[in-house]
Formats: sequence, structure tokens, C-alpha cells
Amino acid sequence: MPKGFIFDLDGVIVDTAKYHFKAWQSLAKNLQYNFTEQDNEQFKGVSRVRSLELLLEMAQYKATQEEKEHWLTEKNDHYLSLISNMNASEILPGITEILTALKAQKIPIALGSASKNAKPILKKVGLLSYFDVLVDGNEVAKAKPDPEVFLTAAKGLGVAPENCVVFEDALAGVAAAKAAQMVCVAIGDPAILFKADHCFASTAEITPSFVQSLIA
Ligand code: BG6
Ligand code: MG
Repeated sequence: MPKGFIFDLDGVIVDTAKYHFKAWQSLAKNLQYNFTEQDNEQFKGVSRVRSLELLLEMAQYKATQEEKEHWLTEKNDHYLSLISNMNASEILPGITEILTALKAQKIPIALGSASKNAKPILKKVGLLSYFDVLVDGNEVAKAKPDPEVFLTAAKGLGVAPENCVVFEDALAGVAAAKAAQMVCVAIGDPAILFKADHCFASTAEITPSFVQSLIA
């Protein structure tokens, strides 16, 4: 059975989760809300628009449509300034090795991300050429935890969903992968990401033999 591998971007390939956190945190400050790392767990894998809605709920602020649009732009501008100098040094440990091993075995690789900034980030860190298919926030209508992003990626790869392996760091992403009937490898806290089939505290702990076992 041919296998396909699908990678989330933020928090799996690159350490951008910390920049998203910083940008939301400074917006929260304007709303007099103390946005914590714990709050941020709910934002991982979630679209920009939905993230703002969550923040407004947390801050108990009823915003006008104009305010919402203004803050979405402000958040993204801040995020873009934080990632402006990103380079290959921000690729998470072991990821280039995993992608290289998959490529060498001609295993098709897709990106399955909620981000609308995915392509420029992959370009910045020099990983774009590894991906056969890119599915990001510009393409999907239904955000994670809906499985659409991963099902679209599997279709693009020409691999049946049950033969796809997803790498995810977000609660919403793990739920999306499982809803798509895919094998899910999570990166993060196993107490939070317990619905995944495998969980590693960091990408550095994913061994080449584990990756081989997913292909076999
Ligand atoms: C996900 C991140 O990958 O992309 C979320 O985990 C983020 O934190 C979402 O909100 C949307 O990203 P962007 O770059 O389009 O704002
Ligand atoms: Mg992520």
C-alpha cells in the first residue's frame, strides 16, 4: 500500500508557534486581557479569524466588524514582522532529516496547515522543494478540527486517507487527522494530545527507525 505523509507547519516544521503566541498576546494586552500559554493551546492549529473570536470571548469584549478586521490585520502584520528574519536555523530538530529520508524513498509529502502564510515560510527556511502538495489556509473552507485540510492533501497526493500519516502539534489538528481516519503522530504534551496514535515531547525525539516503522 502506498503511503503518504502530511505535515502541519507551525509547531511541527518550524517553531513559529511562539511568534503566533507573541502576536496574540500583545493584542490581548490592548484588550486588558492576560493571555497565557495555556490559553494559547486552544489557538494552535486554529484559523486566524477563529483565533480572534476566541480571544474576544476570553476578554469578554464585543467587537464591531470594523474592529475585528483592524485587529486581524494588526495581528498578522505583527506576526509577519516577527518572522521577517526567519531562516533554516528555525527548522525544528530532525525535520529536515525526516523529509530527506522520505524523499529518498519517493514517499509523497504534503503540507496540511491552517496558515495563510505557509508558502512564504517554507520558502524562507528552504524546505519548499520537499513538498509535492501544499494545502493551507488559503485553500480550505473548513478549518481544523474539520478533516478537510488533510483529506484535500491526501487527494492531492493520490493516497487513501487510511494510508496517510499526519504530524501535528495542535489539539484541533490531532482531532482533524483522526476524523480523516489517518495515523497521527503528535508533538507536544501527551496529556493534551492523547487522541494521537503516537506522541513525542519534541521533534528531536522522533527517531529514523520510528519513521521507517510508519512507512513499512
Ligand atoms: C496555524 C497556527 O498553523 O495557522 C495558528 O497553529 C494560526 O496559530 C493559523 O492562527 C493561521 O495562521 P496565519 O498565518 O494564517 O495567521
Ligand atoms: Mg501546528
